[in-house]
Amino acid sequence: MPATIVIGAQWGDEGKGKITDLLAERADVVCRFQGGNNAGHTIVRDGEEFKFHLIPSGILYEAKTCVIGNGVVIDPHILFGEIDALRARGIGADNLRVSANAHLIMPYHLLLDGAAERQLGKFKIGTTGRGIGPCYIDKVARVGVRVQDLLDEKILRRKVRVALDEKNQLLQLYDIGTLDPDQVTDEVLAYRERFEPHICDASLLVNKALDDGREVLFEGAQGTLLDIDFGTYPFVTSSNPIAGGACVGAGVGPTRIDNVVGVAKAYTTRVGEGPFPTELFDDAGAALCEVGQEFGTTTGRQRRCGWLDLVALRYAVRVSGITHLAITKLDVLTGLPVLKVCTRYKAGRKMHDEFPLLQTDFHHAKPVLEELPGWTDDLRHCEEWADLPETARDYVQFIADFTKTRVKFIAVGPGREETIVLPRSIGRGGAV
Ligand code: GDP
Ligand code: IMO
Ligand code: MG
Repeated sequence: MPATIVIGAQWGDEGKGKITDLLAERADVVCRFQGGNNAGHTIVRDGEEFKFHLIPSGILYEAKTCVIGNGVVIDPHILFGEIDALRARGIGADNLRVSANAHLIMPYHLLLDGAAERQLGKFKIGTTGRGIGPCYIDKVARVGVRVQDLLDEKILRRKVRVALDEKNQLLQLYDIGTLDPDQVTDEVLAYRERFEPHICDASLLVNKALDDGREVLFEGAQGTLLDIDFGTYPFVTSSNPIAGGACVGAGVGPTRIDNVVGVAKAYTTRVGEGPFPTELFDDAGAALCEVGQEFGTTTGRQRRCGWLDLVALRYAVRVSGITHLAITKLDVLTGLPVLKVCTRYKAGRKMHDEFPLLQTDFHHAKPVLEELPGWTDDLRHCEEWADLPETARDYVQFIADFTKTRVKFIAVGPGREETIVLPRSIGRGGAV
């Protein structure tokens, strides 16, 4: 597996951190390619829990090179906070490299994120409030501040002044007051010394590693249905979490990618606003939330829970060319007598076998659910396919067959070791 992309196949929080950490054992380089500290990736190693927002999930193996690609937006305060927290736990970050072309989340981005949400009122997106959208807006508007600008104070001061000329008017409109350009510049410049040893040409680094036959893992944040182009727009994030985002956000060509691992929970969750056809409001939903501990890693918000949406999962397979699925949190379904999966949507009188093209259809979509038998055995001690109860195997096989995709990993607990890796002969989807 020389170049493997790990992406979320749902609305985020699928367990990408855990799967990346697992795969990182074999990798030489682990590279984040989009998003920022809206992400919260959890790794449990030897019973110890780590939560990363910006640092790639390979950092726990100190011999690996970890890279933050150009497609990521970086809040310096969060980045160095994370590095310090790791140091305090005895883990160094000397092997962390940061693309000179990555954009910086500036103090005004945070203010504007909050203000825009307040302005939207009941139409709000439910963002994480971390300044992600406003930072990507500036990137596309070509008034962003990049990591490399820290190396040229004159340019940095000019850029911040130009940006604030406009932002201050907006901030006044939102009744927030104004920011002083020199003060803002000084605030970010304070991080220059700490940034310097980490700054690199990330695309060059990653491509050289591939040229040398080394293994590179690309770690996505968020998930397919939060993708700015392919997600449930406008209730999405402002980047491309799909596999194609790795090429743009790390500077690698699509011809270099060998595998795409799509991570999906055995059910579905979503944080923030927006449509969610299989959402549950009953005891089954409450059970998923409680057993799955479905509270956001970044904002602590309760995640909305629902049945597995296979139409959306098959869509994720399509838009990212997923070659392997990792099904996580199968253990959370234990004890539910009947499991339901969505295989079609009904919107008005229309039936949808595929993810609907029109946003209105998705907003009105009612799930057509198929029932599968559950199991009562605790799965957390299962180490291989044969250890799973038959109904659990049938459930996973149903996913593989419906999506025509091979299931490679089944997670049955948060720990690194609580993962079943399927041999080639099983977990194949129909017609694969
Ligand atoms: P990410 O954003 O995709 O990396 O996912 P998060 O870390 O935000 O959320 C996933 C949560 O589920 C974390 O608390 C993980 O420790 C936990 N988790 C991951 N896989 C499993 C699993 O198979 N079973 C259980 N019970 N928890 C899991
Ligand atoms: P990981 O990487 C789940 C959601 C927010 C909101 C929308 C837009 O841990 O899976 P933003 O702050 O990005 O502008 O918010 O996207 N969101 C996530 N939901 N997991 C995440 O990351 C998310 N990152 C953003 O809740 O609905
Ligand atoms: Mg998360």
